Amino acid sequence: MIFRQLFEPVSSTYTYLLGCEETGQALLVDPVLPTWERDLAALNALGLKLAFTVETHVHADHITSALQLKREAGSRIAYPAPSAAPCADLRIEEGREFRLGSIALQPLFTPGHTDDHFSYVVDGRALTGDALLIDGCGRTDFQNGDAATLYRSVRERLFALPDDTLVYPAHDYQQRRVSTIAQERSRNPRLGGGRDLAAFEKIMRELELPYPKFIDYAVPGNRACGVCPPDIAENLRKYCEKMEDSPQG
Ligand SMILES: [Fe+2]
Repeated sequence: MIFRQLFEPVSSTYTYLLGCEETGQALLVDPVLPTWERDLAALNALGLKLAFTVETHVHADHITSALQLKREAGSRIAYPAPSAAPCADLRIEEGREFRLGSIALQPLFTPGHTDDHFSYVVDGRALTGDALLIDGCGRTDFQNGDAATLYRSVRERLFALPDDTLVYPAHDYQQRRVSTIAQERSRNPRLGGGRDLAAFEKIMRELELPYPKFIDYAVPGNRACGVCPPDIAENLRKYCEKMEDSPQG
């Protein structure tokens, strides 16, 4: 399998490129609108054709490029079934492997950050979305998030994966790129070691994070598979416009 981790700096999102060497087909997990051309160029350079975009959940901090890529590259759109996105071509469900050529994604339902969140296990890697970040986790105070649900998703599902499974999160704000299940299970300061549910709930309650500045646009835009509102405020336009000089990786 061809694997690339691509970074989108506006929302500090990692997009994952997975390619099948035998069929030349590829998929992108969590592609982001400002870098859609960079992502297509990366696929072209590898001689791959984009067959699918796959979301981990309905994002609140960026807009997916799923619809744009469908228009430009003819790719199909996969969303978690609980996302209730009628625009999706395929619905991801627990227990149903998603195959593309030799690539086999195992969807793991991991709600708690949102109520529609899936992680994907593929070839010794776990794409953990916003459920498990390196030394952290996604917030649990919007989109039907729930700290107790996230605690169970991470501890009972993700931490049950083999020790050496590579952890590839949907975000990192300090340019960390990869971790392992063993490392997060023992060292994650929110969910690792002996931290019990009460301790985790207290940590999440006391974060006092600001209201997400893009959420009111991003959630409806992503439920529509990646639509930017025409009336978007000037200071938020960077989430919708093509990024000049997109980073290559
Ligand atoms: Fe998220």
